[in-house]
Amino acid sequence: MRTHYCGQLRAEHVGETVTLFGWVNSYRDQGGVIFIDLRDRSGICQIVSDLSRTPQSFPIAESLKNEYVIKVVGKVSQRPADSFNPRLPTGEVEIYADELELLSALAPDEKSKDGNDVLLPFQVSSADPVKEEARLKYRYLDLRRERMSQNIKLRHQVVKSIRRFLEDQEGFIEVETPMLTRSTPEGARDFLVPSRVNPGEFFALPQSPQLFKQLLMVSGFDRYYQVARCFRDEDLRADRQPEFTQLDMEMSFMSQEEILELNEGLVCHILKQVKGIEVPRPFPRLTYAEAMDRYGSDKPDTRYGLELVDVSDLMKDSGFKVFSGAVASGGIVKVLPIPGGNDAFSNVRIKPGGDLFNEAASMGAKGLAYIRVRDDGDIDTIGAIKDNLSEEQKQELLKRTGATAGHLLLFGAGDAPTVNKTLDRLRQVIARELNLIDPDKINLLWIVEFPMFEWNADENRLEALHHPFTKPFDEDAHDLKTARAQAYDLVFNGFEVGGGSLRIYQSDLQQKVFETIGLSTEEAHNKFGFLLEAFKYGTPPHGGIAYGLDRLVMLLAGEESIRDVIAFPKTQQARCLLTNAPSGVDTKQLKELHIGVTQKPKA
Ligand code: AMO
Repeated sequence: MRTHYCGQLRAEHVGETVTLFGWVNSYRDQGGVIFIDLRDRSGICQIVSDLSRTPQSFPIAESLKNEYVIKVVGKVSQRPADSFNPRLPTGEVEIYADELELLSALAPDEKSKDGNDVLLPFQVSSADPVKEEARLKYRYLDLRRERMSQNIKLRHQVVKSIRRFLEDQEGFIEVETPMLTRSTPEGARDFLVPSRVNPGEFFALPQSPQLFKQLLMVSGFDRYYQVARCFRDEDLRADRQPEFTQLDMEMSFMSQEEILELNEGLVCHILKQVKGIEVPRPFPRLTYAEAMDRYGSDKPDTRYGLELVDVSDLMKDSGFKVFSGAVASGGIVKVLPIPGGNDAFSNVRIKPGGDLFNEAASMGAKGLAYIRVRDDGDIDTIGAIKDNLSEEQKQELLKRTGATAGHLLLFGAGDAPTVNKTLDRLRQVIARELNLIDPDKINLLWIVEFPMFEWNADENRLEALHHPFTKPFDEDAHDLKTARAQAYDLVFNGFEVGGGSLRIYQSDLQQKVFETIGLSTEEAHNKFGFLLEAFKYGTPPHGGIAYGLDRLVMLLAGEESIRDVIAFPKTQQARCLLTNAPSGVDTKQLKELHIGVTQKPKA
C-alpha cells in the first residue's frame, strides 16, 4: 500500500504517483490552497490540496488538524525554485493530494461542550523545550518529536553496526542469559523478585551477565556477546538508570592486548558506520595511577588540559598548616593551575559561599585555598596562605605548575581521594565555563593497570575494584593487596563507556582473592559455588568487557542524559511516569507471594 516514506522523496520522484501514510505535522490554509507537512518516522514532506487542482481531496484537507493520521495518494511535483525549503531534505518537491483519507483524528475532549478535540500536552512539531515530566508522561508523543526520533534511530544504527562487526567480521555468537537469577558480583543493590512457588525465596535481576558469560566460556562458545539488559538499584544520575543496556562480550584464549585491539576495531567501526568519523588507533592509554595523578579521576576528559600538579613535597614544610598538616597526616596537596583564571574567577566565587567553593565542598573539601598570578606577574597569596609561603616556594610553585601572568592556582589539601575528587570536579566546571571543550572532538582513552582492590572505610575491608574474578598481573600476584589488575576501562570524553578484565581461571588464585576481600570459603561457595564448581572441569583462559550502550549512544547523539536515548526511561526518582510504576499491588497477589509489606505505598 505505502509506496514511499515521506522523508525519501526527492526531485528524481517528480511525476510519480505515491502513497504515503503519516501524521499531520503542521497545517497552513491559504484560502483555496492547503499545505500540510506530513510526518512519518523518516521525515517530513509537503502535501498540497488545491481547490482548483485537486478538488476531491479539499474537503478532507480542510478538516485536518495537527497529529491527525492520514493516507495520501498524489503526484510528486517539482516546487517552484522560489519556494524550495532548504531546511527539509524533501524541500524541492511537494505532493498534490489526489486522495486524502482520514485514518484517525484526535479524540474529542470529554470536558468540551463544543465537541473540540482533546488538547495535545505539547506540540510535537515544535522544537521548543518541554518539561521533562510531560515528556516522560506522554513519552509516545515525545518519541514522535524530531530529536527523540533521531536518537532512537541512532541507537538502532549503533546496535546494528555492533552486530554486523561482531557477528560477520569477528565470529561472535549472541547468547541470552537469564533475567531471573542469583545476585551477581557488580556491587550495587539488587532488584529482587519473589518466587511464588518457592516461598520465602527470591530471584535477583542480573546486574550484568558476568557469571553466565564466564560459564559460556567454560562451555566452549569462545566468543560471546549479548545486548543485555542489566538492573542495578543505585542512586540515579544523568548517566545512570536502574535498568540499562550493556553490550556484553567475553572471549577465550586472548591476551589483554588482543582484547583491546579487537575492541578498538569495534569502536572505530561504530564511529565510522554511524557518524562517518575516523579516530586514530591505537587509542591512548593511561595507567590508573597516572590518570589519578594528572587528572584526579579514572575517567578524565582529555579534550582539554588543566592538568593537576602534586606539590605535596613542596608544601610539607610550609608555614601554612592546612598544607603541611595534610601531608603530615598522610594526605596530599595538589594544584589545579588555570590559565586566564585570575581574571575569570573573582574572590567571591572562591571564598566560602561562592559557587566554586560550593562545588569543592560538595566533594568533601573543607576549604579552597588559592593564589593569583597578577597580570604583571606578581604572585598574590590570599587569606591564610598569605605570608606563609617563602618567595622560594612561590617561585618553585610557578615553575612546577607552569603558571604565568593571569593564572589562578586552586589548591586541594587533605586525604588523596577527597583532593582528587574536588579538583576533578573543579577541573570540569572550569573547563566548561572557560569554553575549553571542543564539542566536536572525540577523545577515546584506555585506563589500564587498575589496583585489584580499594579500601572500603565503611566496612573496614578491602573490596574488589572491578569484581572478584579479575586477574592480577602475574608479576604482582605474590602480594595481592597491592597488586594491579589486568582490567581496563574505556573512557570517552570523560565518561566511562566500558570496562572489563581478564578473569581468574585457577581455583587457588581465586581462593586467595576471596580471602583478601574477607570472603570465607563458605561464603564464596554460597555466592559463587556454581562458578567455582564449573571451573573444575576444564576452563579456558578468558576475559571480556561490557559497554554501557546507553552512555555510548548518549555521547554519539550529543545528549547530556541517557534518558534521552532510552525509549522509556525512569525518572531520577526511579519512577516510570508513563505507566506510573512502581505501584502498590493487591493484597491477594502479595499473599500468593508470601510477602508482607511494612510500608504503605505513596502512590
Ligand atoms: P561495569 O559495572 O563497569 O562492568 O559496567 C559496564 C558498563 O556499564 C555501564 N553502566 C551503566 N550505565 C547506565 N546505568 C547504570 N546504572 C550503569 N552501570 C554501569 C557503564 C560501565 O562502563 N560485568 C562487568 C563487565 C566485565 O567485566 O566484562 C560490568 O558490568 O558504561
